[in-house]
Amino acid sequence: PIPVIIDCDTGIDDALALLLAVRHPGLDLRAVTCVAGNTDVDGVVRNTLTVLDQAGAPDIPVARGAERPLIEAVRTARHVHGHDGMGDFGLPAPARAAAGTDAVTLLRREILASPRPVTLIPTAPATNIALLLRTHPEVTRNIERIVFMGGAVATGNATPVAEFNVWHDPEAAAVLLTAGVPITMYGLDVFERVVVPGPDVRRLCASAEPGTRLAGKLLAHRGPATDESDPGGGLGDAGAVCAVLDPAGLTTHRLPVEISLAPGPARGQTLVDRRARPGESEIHEGTREQPLVDVALEVDVERYVKLYLGAVER
Ligand code: BDR
Ligand code: CA
Repeated sequence: PIPVIIDCDTGIDDALALLLAVRHPGLDLRAVTCVAGNTDVDGVVRNTLTVLDQAGAPDIPVARGAERPLIEAVRTARHVHGHDGMGDFGLPAPARAAAGTDAVTLLRREILASPRPVTLIPTAPATNIALLLRTHPEVTRNIERIVFMGGAVATGNATPVAEFNVWHDPEAAAVLLTAGVPITMYGLDVFERVVVPGPDVRRLCASAEPGTRLAGKLLAHRGPATDESDPGGGLGDAGAVCAVLDPAGLTTHRLPVEISLAPGPARGQTLVDRRARPGESEIHEGTREQPLVDVALEVDVERYVKLYLGAVER
């Protein structure tokens, strides 16, 4: 299995991502680290521990990370993810507490201890990842790739041009992009498209198995449907986990990406230079400011839906 670590702000769709990572035999989920984003960091820790309990994975180390972005103030997305940050389903409290170690320490330890290079999957603002890279830069020698949910080539969601995770902590995202390891950007352009059809969601909801049923509830809450008469639910962050398991389900182009850091309406935008074509002039070689990133432009929706259902209904 591929060793992975998820850094998340659980979060309805972060929960979907955790369920996939726990259930799929192709992944070895070595740790989960939490950061403020969809809700406050203590809420994220609680939600994450509860999801792992429900998924039957009570032993995966979980650590609390940054409680605010590097520069920005705390902002949440409770209007999307509910008051508890995860749909307000009234899920039971977690059966354990988070590790005594902080997220950066746990990330360093698990990355360096892994016998094979680790793939990092950030599905949240990149604050923990930026702190890790600045505190322990040596970790990059045992990172295979970073596959992050964030950014948008076309339209944003937090603002007309900025995606929530990048908008929430733009400086941290800029540090992530310049980590010096291979990076895949699983942005809104593909994120929004992977929707599980209504009948599948209803089947999951009716399951007797708690993890499968939770996946159904989360999908039903998430919407939106492509077809209003048959509401399904988007995989959201779980699509980034699919991208690690099955990269061939994505069409990516290696393109320069820069984050707009200036104050004003474009702050947090991922400026993807689509003028670039592989093999062309020096502009395409990537610089410190404009690293080359494998940007997901297309996704095979059916393939990822099948992958997801196959894992959570095991
Ligand atoms: C991203 O922001 C969060 O609300 C979701 O969990 C996802 O990671 C989408 O912009
Ligand atoms: Ca998230």
